Amino acid sequence: MKNLSLSQRISVYLFFVVCVSTFVMNSTFFIVLQNQSEDQFNLQTTEILSNINRYYQIPVWNLDYHGIITVTDTWLQTRSGVLAIRVTDEASNLIVQKTKENKLFDLLLKQPHTILKKEKITHDNRQHIGFVEVIFSNADIVEQNNFTYIKSILGSLIFAFILSLVSNHFLSLFLHRPLQNLISGTQAARNSNYTIRVPEDAVGEIGMLASEFNKTMNAIQDRDQRLLEHNNQLEEIIRLRTIELDKQRANMINSARLAALGEFSAGMSHEINNPLAVIIGKATILRTFVGKGLIAPEYEIHFIKITEMCDRISKIIKNLRAYARDGSNDPFDSFELNRFLSDIGELTRLKLDKKAINFRMQNHSSLLKIYGKEIPLSQVIINLINNSADAVENAMDKWVELTISDKDGHIVFSVKDSGQGIPEDVQKKMMTPFFTTKIIGKGTGLGLSISKGIIEEHKGELIYSIESGNTEFIVRLPIVTKA
Ligand SMILES: Nc1ncnc2c1ncn2[C@@H]1O[C@H](COP(=O)(O)OP(=O)(O)O)[C@@H](O)[C@H]1O
Ligand SMILES: [Mg+2]
Repeated sequence: MKNLSLSQRISVYLFFVVCVSTFVMNSTFFIVLQNQSEDQFNLQTTEILSNINRYYQIPVWNLDYHGIITVTDTWLQTRSGVLAIRVTDEASNLIVQKTKENKLFDLLLKQPHTILKKEKITHDNRQHIGFVEVIFSNADIVEQNNFTYIKSILGSLIFAFILSLVSNHFLSLFLHRPLQNLISGTQAARNSNYTIRVPEDAVGEIGMLASEFNKTMNAIQDRDQRLLEHNNQLEEIIRLRTIELDKQRANMINSARLAALGEFSAGMSHEINNPLAVIIGKATILRTFVGKGLIAPEYEIHFIKITEMCDRISKIIKNLRAYARDGSNDPFDSFELNRFLSDIGELTRLKLDKKAINFRMQNHSSLLKIYGKEIPLSQVIINLINNSADAVENAMDKWVELTISDKDGHIVFSVKDSGQGIPEDVQKKMMTPFFTTKIIGKGTGLGLSISKGIIEEHKGELIYSIESGNTEFIVRLPIVTKA
């Protein structure tokens, strides 16, 4: 019973209820029937007895044994309910006694469903001439009634069984299946599957429940969708804020770095310039000694070389001071392209020479001046050249090429190196702040992101391209003709 479904249980209960109620009804009916047939039996036997009595009046008065026996046999044979007849005289002396199938009279009396009825036999309705006693049996009727009772009980059982089968069919159609659908729907929802829907064709309250369930699932899905959208919006806001914060942090770090470098190179140039001035002074004095014939003339060339080298050192220091500082707040201004390029050449030569990298510079631009922030722009180009130098330093063939040209109203700086391009995953991230593939101490991951910011400030673009199999970065700046 425990494992039965609700509809099966109801069907089983129904079966028992129908069984019990039909049993009670049948039994009541049976008792009533039994009583009725008992009464009827009584009436019938009384009637039959008086009938029999009438047939005995004449033979008993005449003491006609033959006639008495004939009457007795006739009644015994023709009436199935008559089991035995005894005829006595008025003093109860036996005249004739006959039974069906020659059974003993007293034994027949003890059989169930038999009664003995006795009546006086009279002559001319007055004179008492004897007695007639008859044993009647209603076993046939009782048996028939019992049979009817068992038949109706069996019929009731079959009826109850069929009724419970039919009820089970309809209950499972209208109750079990829709409920089962709802149960599996609820289980799916518990496992976060809100796409589940249940059929709404069930009748009555279960149909309403199914429709409410579906509406609830719709509402949950709507809510989830809104939450997802909200989450995505939040994620996007966070992503944009993070990029912004990273940029700000990169700019701050870069400014701090440049400020420190500026301070350092200012101090250094001050320290170097003084002894440099002394060296230049002394070399000039020595050259005058050559003129005076105090020193052999073949030494003059060395003094000239010393002076030249000192000039170069002082120029480098001057450039270093000029470029190694945070120029982000400088105003836009026009500056000479040639000087800008030669200063870049000076500032990168040391690193390139040290790594034995071949550096070529080709200026095809017709411009004499550019408009922008000179220091930040020079930092962009220097940074690109330094990146190239880092990339090719261990290669067999090492070269870096800076080409300047004009195209479509833009001045284009191309920094190309002998590297074979940048892997795609690095390409995707290299412009974001703090992304570096270099070891700690060597790379900061600031170069390209800061450069991109500077170029965008100039309304230009910094793009990576791969041309003829070599790595190339291109800076395109719109040509601004300043009145
Ligand atoms: N010319 C180049 N060849 C190969 N890889 C490069 C080149 N320029 C930049 N990259 C890649 O881009 C990354 C980011 O460069 P950058 O922003 O200048 O930071 P950093 O030089 O400090 O690593 C480098 O670490 C390197 O992986
Ligand atoms: Mg770099």
